[in-house]
Amino acid sequence: MKQMIIEGNHELKGTIEIGGAKNSAVALIPASILAKGKSIIHNVPNISDRDALIDILELLNCKIELEGDTLKIDSTNLTNKLIGASLSNRLRASYYFMGALLGREKYVEIHIPGGCNIGSRPIDIHIDGFKALGAKITTEKDKFILQADELIGTDIYLRFQSVGATINLMLASTLATGTTVIHNAAMEAEIENIAEYLNNMGAKITGAGTSEITIVGVKELHEAEISVLPDRIEAGTYLILGALCGDNLCIKNIIPNHLEALTSKLKEMGVNFTINKDNIIVNKTKNLKPINIKTLVYPGFPTDIGQPMSVLLTQCHGTSLFEETIWENRMGHVPSLNKMGANISVSGTTAIIEGPTPLTGTEVVATDLRGGAALVIAGLFASGTTKITDVEHILRGYENIASKLTKVGAKISIIEI
Ligand code: EPZ
Repeated sequence: MKQMIIEGNHELKGTIEIGGAKNSAVALIPASILAKGKSIIHNVPNISDRDALIDILELLNCKIELEGDTLKIDSTNLTNKLIGASLSNRLRASYYFMGALLGREKYVEIHIPGGCNIGSRPIDIHIDGFKALGAKITTEKDKFILQADELIGTDIYLRFQSVGATINLMLASTLATGTTVIHNAAMEAEIENIAEYLNNMGAKITGAGTSEITIVGVKELHEAEISVLPDRIEAGTYLILGALCGDNLCIKNIIPNHLEALTSKLKEMGVNFTINKDNIIVNKTKNLKPINIKTLVYPGFPTDIGQPMSVLLTQCHGTSLFEETIWENRMGHVPSLNKMGANISVSGTTAIIEGPTPLTGTEVVATDLRGGAALVIAGLFASGTTKITDVEHILRGYENIASKLTKVGAKISIIEI
């Protein structure tokens, strides 16, 4: 088990380089098996979710080469096998092998995916979409079996703009016969990144990034290259940190448009920052105004930034509200923040945050990825020493977090306990 130890209350200056987006990389990697041959993904973040997906690819007899942040995946000799619980459980995104294997092999056996404990996380929208394409789906305890003689393009209306279902149905339908139209599709920038990769392979996808995606099925896909787009959630996390501890802290390698939902809120609070072409410079700011945030599907305020943002809200002068609308259980970090001195009460999926309150280091637990990131921010801002256990949650999605923060002046280390 790993523990993170943070000595707080140091100013952070210099540059943090943002890596490739976790939520894009975890779909691009499984998508690679749709093309027979060696595909190349650049700017892959060094996170444990990447390693879990590589283990699944190796089970399926793909050849993997990883040099720095470039991942080469050769799926020429892919062997279709059951993806067992010990692999599928390690992350949520194992479910992208459903769409990718169904597309390529028309047969998949996989145990239910894992992922953060932030809600019930059903996959019924994915399953209904696969069925609409003509797949037959059976379940045996925790195992799904998906099979089809042929996938046939059709119109699919998603009852919620699910990121995972949108991507999974794009994956499955690229090699289907005829045209698929996904209505009420999720519109995340990551979805455009995946569509671009599939199009580089020879797929015919238009409309990714809008709520209507059209996929004209093709007979086969060829090897291709793609670069993972910058991680807007990693960038947002460090931007929030900069508003508390930054001294001209530069968050570099970002796409400012992708951060607009956050930067407009930071502006409303009075945070001192400057947006440039591919970076933002942020300074710690006093007299922050209280605000209300409500998480929404993209391009609304991202659910994955809500928990980190709640730490900044503890330093506003007055009452702020953080309302989570995507997941039922994104308040796991609140008891830890209160233990550090915050004044947060939770009612259902809304947190009421009174500020400002000084924060003091103590022993806390990361209950999930973004809740863990919130505790890192709190620990770096707090006086004294913060010890965070269950850091594995954080390492699933933030690459080299300790070394990136050390480089800008943080006193932070990760030890085995
Ligand atoms: C992706 O999860 C991300 N994960 C999540 O990031 C992110 O919070 C979420 O999108 C929303 O932006 C990955 O990309 C691996 P959804 P996903 O399907 O695809 C309900 C992080 O911290 N729903 O858009 O699983 C669901 O319960 C993580 O980086 C159904 O009811 O999210 C939720 O309430 C956590 N049935 C809502 O839709 C379904 O079949 C949104 O889920 C699918 C989803």
